[in-house]
Amino acid sequence: MALEAIDPAHPDPALLARAAELLRRGQLVAFPTETVYGLGANALDSVAVERIFQAKGRPSYNPVIVHVADEAAARRLTTAWPEAARRLAARWWPGPLTLVLPKTADVPATVTAGLETVALRVPAHPVAQALLRAAQLPIAAPSANRSGQVSPTEASHVARGLGSRVGMILDGGPCTIGIESTVVDLSGDRPVLLRPGSISLEELATEIGPVVRAGHAVPATAARPSPGMLDRHYAPNAALRLFPSTEDPLALPGVREALAAGKVVTALLRTTAARLPGSLTLPADSAGYARQLYGALHRLDAAGVDLILVEQVPETAEWAGVRDRLARAAHSSP
Ligand code: TXA
Ligand code: MG
Repeated sequence: MALEAIDPAHPDPALLARAAELLRRGQLVAFPTETVYGLGANALDSVAVERIFQAKGRPSYNPVIVHVADEAAARRLTTAWPEAARRLAARWWPGPLTLVLPKTADVPATVTAGLETVALRVPAHPVAQALLRAAQLPIAAPSANRSGQVSPTEASHVARGLGSRVGMILDGGPCTIGIESTVVDLSGDRPVLLRPGSISLEELATEIGPVVRAGHAVPATAARPSPGMLDRHYAPNAALRLFPSTEDPLALPGVREALAAGKVVTALLRTTAARLPGSLTLPADSAGYARQLYGALHRLDAAGVDLILVEQVPETAEWAGVRDRLARAAHSSP
């Protein structure tokens, strides 16, 4: 594995040419996006896409997002471009939004896990953009982590999780958004939010009207829930438990016992203080919190923490993406 530093302000054309050549030869290249690092392969090469699944240990029923440089490139991969797609793309592309639409015959079944739809995203990160333009290919890329683990927001996270399984890692520094893109399914009768992200359901609705939350009374005519949205996802190795800001984490049931048994217990805080060694405090605003969340989880995992007590975040719309990731991580905890 080659970890190559690349300056987002002036991405080195020679390095991009090498990365593009690896992609054309069917190899894997990890690269930064504004959300999280992606593990990229030529989306039109079934064998290359298969390597993504092997490297991640990802179940074959979980489809992969296809990244393209612009709206025109996205439209070449779908048979439909409804008004809702036009509006959402105009407002948020390039950016942290993924649209699920009917696929063309060019998109291999390995990418879509056999579905007739494809997830399309135009990333805003200058390195992702430069790589797409250098390769002149659509790039299939899930988050660059082993399946079920916390997504990477720094190149070092990718190196630690995937190491020799990747041909090249482009290190463009830390990701600015920090949680995965908002995924909206536009292939059915009504728009369905499959995965919340930094763009909220309420913001989507201002552009295209009512959006249905996946799993929340989705009408029978709408698309099925996304096959990859498993509960066990985004999980650190440590167990993770949420607690209300008003409570003392040390007083939570089982915590003193865990400490007495020699377990390493720490807290991920936002507004409160906790008398637990090694506790981390994340920013009080949702964007700042999202940017640092995965990095904090990676750091606590690397430190060998057994139990992370996480102060709950607000119930408001702007926190929906973070709440979703914390709930999933807590759900999968032992
Ligand atoms: O921010 C992101 O979206 C990052 C960066 C690298 O772009 N990518 C990412 O990919 O999070 P991944 O594979 O970890 O998550 C993609 C999710 C899948 O779990 C699946 O739920 C959904 O997108 N998805 C992909 N294709 C789909 C399809 N055809 N229909 C429904 N859902 C789909
Ligand atoms: Mg992922």
